[in-house]
This record gives sequence, structure tokens and C-alpha cells, in this order.
Amino acid sequence: MRLAFEAVSYSYAGGEDRKRSRKAKREREAAWGNAPDAVWALRDVTLAVEPGEFLGVAGHTGSGKSTLIQHMNGLVHPTCGRVLADGADLADKKVAAQVRQSVGLVFQYPENQLFANTVYDDVAFGPRNMKLSEVEVERRVREAMELVGLDMDALGERSPFDLSGGQQRRVAFAGVLAMEPEVLVLDEPVAGLDPLSRADFLALIARFHARGMTVVMVSHSMEDLALLSDRILVLSEGRVFALGTPAEVFADATALKAVGLAAPAPQAFASSLREAGFHLPRDLYDEATLATDIAAQLAGATAAKEGGADV
Ligand SMILES: Nc1ncnc2c1ncn2[C@@H]1O[C@H](COP(=O)(O)OP(=O)(O)OP(=O)(O)O)[C@@H](O)[C@H]1O
Ligand SMILES: [Mg+2]
Repeated sequence: MRLAFEAVSYSYAGGEDRKRSRKAKREREAAWGNAPDAVWALRDVTLAVEPGEFLGVAGHTGSGKSTLIQHMNGLVHPTCGRVLADGADLADKKVAAQVRQSVGLVFQYPENQLFANTVYDDVAFGPRNMKLSEVEVERRVREAMELVGLDMDALGERSPFDLSGGQQRRVAFAGVLAMEPEVLVLDEPVAGLDPLSRADFLALIARFHARGMTVVMVSHSMEDLALLSDRILVLSEGRVFALGTPAEVFADATALKAVGLAAPAPQAFASSLREAGFHLPRDLYDEATLATDIAAQLAGATAAKEGGADV
């Protein structure tokens, strides 16, 4: 599924504002950027999430990330502009209802939205809403729980509120997976998890993507985004600030700094080393590739020195 945003703007203030005079409009423009008074959460956003891609979403607090992704399954509708799913406008209720089944949205801290008496009922909620047979619902609950590393037979009848925070996050995630979405939209999925669970979750998300699922992931971790994303979208004050491959987006550290972000640590370290005379040819570095290239160069320098000493 291709999700296209066409000149989308969104205001939490609702429709009344739009009808006001041009003077009011100018005042609104002027107020833009002062966080508490900012009226537009999104401004003139045009982009598409391509089928099968991993789109990372970055941006300072309040830049519009959560607002943007809630447009992707018709939970929130544009104040101006359109969101299209394979060409069909999500403003149409029928289209939105259908898209809601194929675009799985995992909210930030989704464990706060667990509600059922048992883990089973919580995970089964989405599939039951899709009017599937109880046999199919059970198959999906079992599979979704297995995917997130939970045993349905052991935990299905427990109350979700008796589980650890990490397990609760898994239950919430399973609830979305049980709908077998084509597109998975995640709002800071690993926020607040311990390092081991973080790595587990990120590996799981990477596996879904490898299987062909389209993934949109909001994150404050540039390292995670650099590692996983095909493209990264950077929002600033509700606008598209940058959209490109991680190498493209992280190339201009000064520009990123201006919107409150920083390139991933290995990438920034590579820039400093380049300034100090190292030859580092890759566009994008992670810890492993940076270590390899530095080691190769140091070995080369040592060899040259030793070679020189013979003469
Ligand atoms: N329910 C709401 N009512 C009014 N304004 C809101 C609401 N939710 C968000 N906003 C405002 O909309 C703008 C964008 O918020 P949004 O939550 O989309 O940002 P974000 O990039 O997800 O931030 P964070 O990184 O803190 O999660 C902010 O100015 C915010 O104050
Ligand atoms: Mg948010």
C-alpha cells in the first residue's frame, strides 16, 4: 500500500479558525513556532510512504511526528490537504475503515491502552472487530503472541495488568500484529525499555520489514533510525525539513543541529576524524564500519612506517 500526503496541514484548533479574516491568518502565521501558541501541528506536508520501505521519522519535541502518523490510518483527518491510500482518499469513511485494518498503528506507550481482563481478549480485540471466526481469531492471537515472544497458553488467561512493563508492551504490540497489517506504524516503540528489550524489539521490527512489511517508525534515536531506515523524514515545526536516505539526511550536521537534532555518534565521530586527516570514504558510518575503517588505516600507516624504516 502506498500512502500519499498531499499538502497536508493540521490544526488541533479545529475548523472555526479557517474561516477567519486574513488578518487572523497573518497573526496565526506569526504565532507559528512559539510552542504553546503554535496553531498548526502540521504545515503543507507532501510525501509518500512507498510500499515495502522503512521510513524513519525524526524531529524535535512537538514537531508533529505523532500528529503525522495518526493521519496514516485515518485516525486524524487533515485540516487542509489529502491523505491517499493507493489513490483513495481517507476522507471517505469507507476507505478509512478499510485502511484502518491494513495500517497497524502502535501508539507511544501502548501498554497504557490495555483494557481487557485477559491478555487473550486484549490481543483478540482487533481481529474480533474484523468479524473473523473465533478459530481464526485464536490462530492470529497465538501467532502474534509467538512473534513477540509470549506464550499464549501460559499467559493468555492472565490479566495484562499483572505483567511487567516490557511484557505489557509486547501484548499491546501483539494486538496490532494480530490484525496482520500491511503497514506497521510505530510511535517511539522502544521508548522506556531496558537495553535488552530495546534490542529485541528493534530486531523484531527489522524482521517484519525484511518480510516485506512497510514500516514507519518515529524515534528520537538517530542511531536506530540510521541503522533501520531506507529513508528518514525530519520534521521541524510541522514542516518537512528533510527527507532522504540516512546518509543524505545526516550529511549536514549543522543543519540538523539547527532543528535540535544530532547525527548519530559514529557519523559525527567520522566527520571529526576526517577533519583530523583520516580518509573515511563511506557516506554513512555505524560503530562496526567505523572501527573497521579506522583499524585498516592505522594498520596501513604502521606498515608504511615499518616499510620506511627499512630504507
Ligand atoms: N491533543 C492536542 N491538542 C492540542 N495540541 C496538540 C495536541 N497534541 C499535540 N498538540 C500540539 O501539536 C504539535 C505537534 O505535536 P505532536 O504530538 O505531533 O509532536 P511530536 O513530534 O510527536 O512530539 P514528541 O516528540 O514530544 O512526541 C505540538 O505543538 C503540540 O503541542
Ligand atoms: Mg509524539
